[in-house]
Amino acid sequence: MKEEEIIIIGSNGQLGTALKEKYPNATAVDYNELDITDLKQLNSFDWSKFRIIINAAAFTNVDGAETKDGRVGAWKINAIGPANLSKIAIENNLILVHISTDYVFDGTLEIHDENEPYSPLSVYGASKAAGDILVSQIEKSYILRTSWVIGEGNNFVKTMMNLGAKGINPTVVSDQIGKLTFTSELVRAIDHLLVNKAPYGTYNLTNDGSKVSWADITRTIFKIMSTENNVTDITTEEYYKNKNGIAPRPLNSVLNLDKIHGTGFVSRDWNKELKKYVEKEIS
Ligand SMILES: NC(=O)c1ccc[n+]([C@@H]2O[C@H](COP(=O)([O-])OP(=O)(O)OC[C@H]3O[C@@H](n4cnc5c(N)ncnc54)[C@H](OP(=O)(O)O)[C@@H]3O)[C@@H](O)[C@H]2O)c1
Repeated sequence: MKEEEIIIIGSNGQLGTALKEKYPNATAVDYNELDITDLKQLNSFDWSKFRIIINAAAFTNVDGAETKDGRVGAWKINAIGPANLSKIAIENNLILVHISTDYVFDGTLEIHDENEPYSPLSVYGASKAAGDILVSQIEKSYILRTSWVIGEGNNFVKTMMNLGAKGINPTVVSDQIGKLTFTSELVRAIDHLLVNKAPYGTYNLTNDGSKVSWADITRTIFKIMSTENNVTDITTEEYYKNKNGIAPRPLNSVLNLDKIHGTGFVSRDWNKELKKYVEKEIS
């Protein structure tokens, strides 16, 4: 696989940034250069030198998607965008790599495999499910379904590190259960599927290791930082009580990794990756 044949779309986000690091010779475009909701712009773009589109663009503000404007934005970027890219991929005979989320499920099952029927709770989840359905119709596509993504940019780990550094004792939800996904792991998996020409289709992808709550992740972060801060557990229901405009979230976000492991992909443990990430941020 030649890096020059790859175009990374939505390249300034968390995943886009990690993809640019992995593929410095790929073409990387963000919203200002290529808007996936603008079919006219996509149609007039020169796709001839590419073989692979990696779509890292998305509307990821889960609560923002519940507002009047956010609902429109989420559907445009998460559903119409992938539909447009699917059309472009078919017309130009390109492989389309797309990213999904555990929010396409209601989280009632303790662990999710790739064949679970869609049951989104939120506008974000529904718009992402629509995008998945469209991309999965094209033969040459990979959908990586992930959760709890941590990379460059604002994310949960950085928020908790800031609180820890300020000596604040946070109250953190303890009934949402999952595993972290570092963008480095997502990039490794994308590269693995492409390089090994794995069968097209949907693959779950998170870091591996024990399943955990956000509260316990915060305790682990504080331990790595050697801070004395306390973390108080709270249920999701209590945490969001009396707050308006909050999207419902799945409680169980653990994804079954058997399918991608079956292709020879070897997962890294989120605990080790979290330690590396926090230590790098501190240094
Ligand atoms: N973050 C998570 O916890 C999480 C969990 C599960 C799945 N995912 C999925 O993982 C993927 C990557 O997420 P991420 O955290 O890297 O997202 P992110 O940091 O929010 O990045 C998304 C990027 O898409 C760009 N974008 C927005 N609208 C666009 C448009 N119309 N055309 C082109 N680019 C556009 C954004 O540009 P602007 O910033 O300029 O708007 C931003 O650079 C997404 O598909 C997301 O749904 C994320």
